[in-house]
Amino acid sequence: MKKIGIMTTGGDCSGLNTAIWRIMTGAHLRGWDVYGILDGTDGLCVNPPAVIKLNDMLLPIENARLSGSFLHNGRANTLNFETATETGRIDTFNKQLRKSLRALQLDALILIGGNGSLSLAWTNREIYRDLQLICIPKTIDMDIPCTDRTIGFDTAVQQLTTFCDQLMLTARSHHRWFVVQAMGRDCGMLALHAGLAAGASAILIPEIKFNIDNLVKHIKSSNSDYGVIIVSEGITLRGHSGRPADMISRKLTTAGIVNRTAFPEHAQRSGDTIATDRILATRFADCALNAIENGETYVMTALECDNVHTIPLSEFIASGECVTDPKIPELITSNAYVSPDNPLLAVAANMGIYIGEQK
Ligand code: F6P
Repeated sequence: MKKIGIMTTGGDCSGLNTAIWRIMTGAHLRGWDVYGILDGTDGLCVNPPAVIKLNDMLLPIENARLSGSFLHNGRANTLNFETATETGRIDTFNKQLRKSLRALQLDALILIGGNGSLSLAWTNREIYRDLQLICIPKTIDMDIPCTDRTIGFDTAVQQLTTFCDQLMLTARSHHRWFVVQAMGRDCGMLALHAGLAAGASAILIPEIKFNIDNLVKHIKSSNSDYGVIIVSEGITLRGHSGRPADMISRKLTTAGIVNRTAFPEHAQRSGDTIATDRILATRFADCALNAIENGETYVMTALECDNVHTIPLSEFIASGECVTDPKIPELITSNAYVSPDNPLLAVAANMGIYIGEQK
């Protein structure tokens, strides 16, 4: 009988509970015990480690669709990789993690995380030396390389789309525009997808330069006095600071375009998990369990052309570039951001959406 652990790290998103529930049920069918580590690595930094043995009573099927993580994702002010690095306690942190994992005597650990957690798991692989480490990619930002989808992205797109749909009606009633700020860090995937789905008139993303005068011209020549403009939280405007939506809104106001800003914020990470995310979480859970059975380690589940399989974590690392953040030099930036040949860009342009100054 195997003893496996599950841990959710980084920001929460929809689909985590589906993955946890599926891993639990799939593992039980194989006769394995499943332990949930609470609060990500925080749960390994306390003595004894904060874990619970999972069963159907704790996580019933009807809870599997709920957003958030049943196991929690960690607190901001505890000892974690970032705070340990900042305060020079990284050796203590690593030792504590290794000690806790040894005490738990796990055969395998399934780490459900974003690109930060996955790259840190690789950088600090010494910690996981005694067990099989299987990673499952999740994030609403869709900034993880080597996979066509991450758990949580589709539901976030749906949440943001619904938010824009609702604004569209009040926008029409008052003959005004809404500048909606999308999450996504420095990746424009979420804004691009939701913008297309919601019928936004303009989508501004960090990957594509834009020109305010051309945006204004576009809005004024659109023959409409209402609509939605989506801006990624990662865009910047030379000489301006503050929230991107506020910056764009001010520019539009100066140009005589009546508008308001709207910030869906963390609601984008919430909402009942939509079917495609549940299916992806289920496929990744199945793939992770098979990987454990096959003796794999340091791998990540990935979706490629509708095919789910594992890839070595080293491949994920090799496909990224090291960022220059001096505090966390190991973090990987992604090459999975919106690339110039992303087919959605051409579709958006053909549909008359202002998407920036594409070459
Ligand atoms: O990475 C997910 C994400 O939601 C980003 O889109 C956003 O910038 C960030 O996390 C928000 O972080 P926090 O939950 O710490 O405010």
